[in-house]
Amino acid sequence: NRRIILDTDIAMGAPGSDIDDGFALALAIDLSDQSLELVTTVNGNIDVDTSTVLALNLLDRLGRPEIPVVRGARTPLRRPVHEHPARDRVAGVRAELAGRAPAPGRAPTAIMEHVLACPGEITIVAIGPLTNVAIALALEPAVATAVKEIIVMGGAFMRTTSLLSMPGEFNIWVDPEAASIVLGSGAPLRFIGLDVTLQVALGRADADRLIATGRPFAEYAGRCAHGWIDYLREAYPGQEFLTAPMHDPLAVAVASRPHLVTWRPARVEVEVCSDITRGVTVADLLASRHPPEPNCLVATDVDSPAFIDFFLNHVYSL
Ligand code: BDR
Ligand code: CA
Repeated sequence: NRRIILDTDIAMGAPGSDIDDGFALALAIDLSDQSLELVTTVNGNIDVDTSTVLALNLLDRLGRPEIPVVRGARTPLRRPVHEHPARDRVAGVRAELAGRAPAPGRAPTAIMEHVLACPGEITIVAIGPLTNVAIALALEPAVATAVKEIIVMGGAFMRTTSLLSMPGEFNIWVDPEAASIVLGSGAPLRFIGLDVTLQVALGRADADRLIATGRPFAEYAGRCAHGWIDYLREAYPGQEFLTAPMHDPLAVAVASRPHLVTWRPARVEVEVCSDITRGVTVADLLASRHPPEPNCLVATDVDSPAFIDFFLNHVYSL
C-alpha cells in the first residue's frame, strides 16, 4: 500500500482553469492500493488560496473531508507569479466555496514532518510547480533519503513540446529553480513529462459517459471536462484542442502501477539562466552507461488504452 502526499495546484471548479488535478485527487482517493494521507497546495494553475479552497471543497464532494489540506507557497522561489487568465473570475468562486479552513501550518513544513516521521514510507506525488517540495528539501535535506519516492508531473523529455506560450512544460516553467533543487537533491525521482501525458486525454464522448453515470463526482467531472475543452477552443483559436489531457492522474496511477509507463534512467537538468528557454528540461538518456550518473527515471512511453480504461473505471464509480 502506497502512502501518498499529493502536492497540487488544483483548479478544478474555477472557470477557465485546468481540471486534471481534480481528477488526480479523485483517483488517489479511490485506489485501494494507495492511501492519501495529506494534500498540500501550491501556486500554479491558480493562486494558492483558491487552490486550497477548491481542494477542501472537492474532498467534501468526494466524501473524504478528514484528509488534511495544508496551504503552501504563494509564489515561486524566484520568478514572479504567473498571471492566470481567470484570476479576476475566481475571487467569487473562492468566496462562495469557502467553508472549512485548511489544517494549520504551511505545506513545506507539513511535507518535511510527515516524510521524516515515516522514513521509507511516504511517496510524494507532485502535480504542480515544485516550490513546496524544494522548500521541504531545503528545510531538511534528510527528506531526500527519508522519502520513498517523489513522482513529478513535469518537463518534456522525448521531444520538445509545449501546450501554450512557454517553452517546455508549465509546472517546471513556473518555478525552474525549485525543479533544479529537487533534481539535485539525491531523492529517488520519477518524472512524467508532457510528451507522455499528452497521450492520455479525455474527449467529449468520455465526458458524456461520465455525465451519464449520474454519480456525484463523475457527473460533475464530465461537465468540467466539457467546460475545459470549450475554454481551450475559445482561448486558442486555430489550435485543435479537442480533448482534455489527464497529465496529473497518470502521475498518481504510476505510484502503485509503474508498469503503465516505460521508464528509463536519465540525467535531467533544468534551464534556469536563459529567459528564452526558461524551465526547459534537458535529459541525458544515456546516463545509465556514461557519466554523469542518472538522477531520476524518466517516462518514455505509456500504454494509453490501458491507463484510460483503468482510470475511467475508477472515476465512473465516484
Ligand atoms: C501540468 O500543468 C497543469 O496545467 C496541469 O495540471 C499539469 O500539472 C501540465 O503541463
Ligand atoms: Ca497540475
